[in-house]
Amino acid sequence: MSAAKISVAKKAIDYIEKKLSIETVLGIGTGSTVNYFINELDAYKNLFRGAVSSSEASSQLLREKNIEVFSLNDVNQIDFYIDGADEVSPNNFLIKGGGGAHTREKIVAAAAQEFICIVDKTKMVDKLGAFPLPVEVIPEARSFVARKIVALGGKPIYRENFITDQGNHIIDVEEIDISEPEALEILLNNIPGVVDNGIFAFNKPELVLVSD
Ligand code: A5P
Repeated sequence: MSAAKISVAKKAIDYIEKKLSIETVLGIGTGSTVNYFINELDAYKNLFRGAVSSSEASSQLLREKNIEVFSLNDVNQIDFYIDGADEVSPNNFLIKGGGGAHTREKIVAAAAQEFICIVDKTKMVDKLGAFPLPVEVIPEARSFVARKIVALGGKPIYRENFITDQGNHIIDVEEIDISEPEALEILLNNIPGVVDNGIFAFNKPELVLVSD
């Protein structure tokens, strides 16, 4: 598995390498595949300006490599956003948030010119939904949101002992119908107390790179 993740991390480097300049700001996602990408990026760190990160974990890794980490508030543009995924549909719709970082991931993806998703081939699915769908909720709203999810046909499971970087909780939703990803992304985000859910239908990647 790690060989596959390293190989796709290298593919992403090959894709961006010639497009880097000292003005380039990269968006960096979260997860084990991205961690391999950060390792590969180390050798190129003098060729770009720095990075906006989607999580405290990735920020720490970037800083360990002496790659400058900017707040999204302090940059005007992000050239490329590189991140993994938990599932990728044939239309490049995604489920993300297995690591609980999908809210910031979606923001950075939306701010980027080009979203490059890097996955091993086990993440490619015919239909989204075998992977439980993560929903970040304001702690006080957790039970209320869970009841609304049941009404939508889903089975909400509270992710125990996990707090997001924003101080919120995660509900992982099983058995919910994701045959219309755009509609469900909107529906879930309209429940008061939901911060964001892990469907990336409106912010899907421009490019999906898959390990061999
Ligand atoms: C983090 O919240 C997720 O969206 C990750 O991008 C996703 O879980 C992929 O992680 P791996 O690269 O570890 O499989």
